[in-house]
Amino acid sequence: LASRSARRPASRRRTMRELTSTKPRAERASSFGAVAKDYDAGRPTYPAELVAWALGARPLQVLDVGAGTGKLTQVLADAGHTVTAAEPLPDMIVVLSRRLRDVRTVTARAEALPLDSSVYQAIVVGQAFHWFDQTRALSEMARVAKPKAVLALFWNTYAGPETWLPYPRGVPKQSLQALYDHPLWAEPDHRTYAWNHRITPRSLLAFVRSHSSVACLPAAERDAYTRDVEPLASEVAREKTLPMVTHVWRSRLAA
Ligand SMILES: C[S@@+](CC[C@H](N)C(=O)[O-])C[C@H]1O[C@@H](n2cnc3c(N)ncnc32)[C@H](O)[C@@H]1O
Repeated sequence: LASRSARRPASRRRTMRELTSTKPRAERASSFGAVAKDYDAGRPTYPAELVAWALGARPLQVLDVGAGTGKLTQVLADAGHTVTAAEPLPDMIVVLSRRLRDVRTVTARAEALPLDSSVYQAIVVGQAFHWFDQTRALSEMARVAKPKAVLALFWNTYAGPETWLPYPRGVPKQSLQALYDHPLWAEPDHRTYAWNHRITPRSLLAFVRSHSSVACLPAAERDAYTRDVEPLASEVAREKTLPMVTHVWRSRLAA
């Protein structure tokens, strides 16, 4: 670790917090479209075991909200669920639809879903709930959910030692308060799952470029940042995997 830090380019020793703090939240929330391909190439999937714990073994009608390029959608479809993917950014939907041709997509935010009421047996969110207006989104997701439907909120976190990697080590727990406070959703339970995300030097750079703090930089700055961290990424990629811990909070529609 010490040797990696020593070789970190002096000109750009910007931490994730420094990169992030200069941009308004709404701008970061919509930054992913510009890096949709990097997102798909670099970001981790979700462990099928944890998805099975949250949703059970029976095939369900599932709504994936903030579906992005379909990382979680793919795991749901592979498990036999019928999935509708809701995502506000058209660039992300293009990538999702290319991969998952049978999945119905809707261009929509969580707070205003253009979907019928009382349809879905499960609603899932991967790495996106913290971007929502949580209370409004929870009400809207309750509207489209069938009675006793499951709500599962997933987050991947990085569990390794690389402090330069712009990826969360913890869950944005303040966003969860809205779930505990919401009258329509039961108190959630929580589970974690440790696993390894397979990487190559190229996919790790894509992973770095897809983080909102980097994605919302002007393209030239994003390229410069990528060049700066390339030696670090090559070294980390020799391990071939990144240790991850995935969290899920699972609730049910009350009544
Ligand atoms: C970090 S990505 C996660 C994508 C995908 N669920 C995954 O696990 O890879 C966050 C996604 O949330 C979407 N998003 C941001 N604000 C949203 C909102 N208010 N409603 C629905 N989706 C939103 C973004 O467009 C982006 O695709």
